Amino acid sequence: MRIVLGVTGGIAAYKAAILLRLLTEAGHRVRVVPTRTALEFVGRPTWEALSGEPATPEVFDDVTGVTHVALGQQADLVVVAPATADLLARAAAGIADDLLTTTLLVARCPVLLAPAMHTQMWQHPATVANVATLRLRGVHVLEPAVGRLTGADSGAGRLPEPEEIAAAALALLRPGRQDLAGRRVVVSAGGTREPLDPVRFLGNRSSGRQGIALAAAAAQRGAAVTLVAANVALPVGPGVDVVPVETAEQLRDAVQAAAAQADAVVMAAAVADFRPVAPAVAKIKKQPGVAVHRLDLVETPDILAGLVTHRARAGQVVVGFAAETGDADGDVLAHGRAKARRKGADLLVVNAVGEGLGFGTAHNDVVILDAAGDEVAHAAGSKDDVAHAVWDAVAPLLAPAG
Ligand code: CTP
Repeated sequence: MRIVLGVTGGIAAYKAAILLRLLTEAGHRVRVVPTRTALEFVGRPTWEALSGEPATPEVFDDVTGVTHVALGQQADLVVVAPATADLLARAAAGIADDLLTTTLLVARCPVLLAPAMHTQMWQHPATVANVATLRLRGVHVLEPAVGRLTGADSGAGRLPEPEEIAAAALALLRPGRQDLAGRRVVVSAGGTREPLDPVRFLGNRSSGRQGIALAAAAAQRGAAVTLVAANVALPVGPGVDVVPVETAEQLRDAVQAAAAQADAVVMAAAVADFRPVAPAVAKIKKQPGVAVHRLDLVETPDILAGLVTHRARAGQVVVGFAAETGDADGDVLAHGRAKARRKGADLLVVNAVGEGLGFGTAHNDVVILDAAGDEVAHAAGSKDDVAHAVWDAVAPLLAPAG
């Protein structure tokens, strides 16, 4: 595979030489594209000798080869290590004033950036915003390591070790399973908000993390993915169409519209069961002498039930989630089994929520049940692992592709 290794002007540039070695030893053809300032730290002969390829920062060095376009077009992966605050800013803004930034603008392959800079620069709102922009566009930005910086001080901003960057880079090159190629799937994520008045809402603690992981995993496995995202603030990976919504009703409309063409629908969103009967048009004021306020709530549509009873397409697989806490009537699994039978979804993913579990956390532990309440799989690990376990359970249920 062809890798472009961008090196920018930071003291950690010398570590990129080790990274270069690791990537070439893994059997890849690596073209180093240093910036002009990177060459102040490590010279051209080092890059050219180690890679066996020219290493220039300039667009005008090989005009006949149209390198400023060709490198990005031909690359299977672009890695920038170290990526300075300046490079992050130029990449986020789409500036193309040297060979590395023109390559980044042209490349449609995975891009991995390994930032390294002083802690204050890393934490500056400008850098934070640039990293958020890049991640929203699907660029993989590693977190810098914490430790000794250029001077005597230490903090967040160190370049991760070359072995770690190489592992992340090689993982992006590994072709995954494509068992959802040609399939169209819909995932709902996040938590709905039901307005009380123009400034307040009834909401829940769902971050959308598990739904985003489901969308990303399906996209990796080749599916065309629509993510109906209720109040999600987290970045969404590449290859996912996002439909932002706020309320349960908007979520239902968006899910139903997307489900018309879908082979599978996964309802990972935490949907409000009730909403205020009529949101106030003006801000609700405190009333002197009134300590108890009543809210009249009305049930929201049960979207999952609607999907199960009116399948948009024959053979469409419908998956529900059940966030449960145990209580006097039964434990998490007992409630899950009862819900699986009641809801009739093809699969119900049951997870325990509560203190430090489920919502907002990076890890999850779920049991996947079928419509009869029988266990199909148990998955524990990162939300990505759980996402893949869900698609592993969905894939065999899909109608033959046609
Ligand atoms: N769900 C839905 N529409 C609703 C409420 C929930 O589609 N109005 C979906 C959720 O996205 C989830 C599943 O139903 O996939 C189960 O949600 P949950 O809140 O656990 O179920 P409820 O039916 O609300 O059950 P209960 O409140 O009795 O636990």
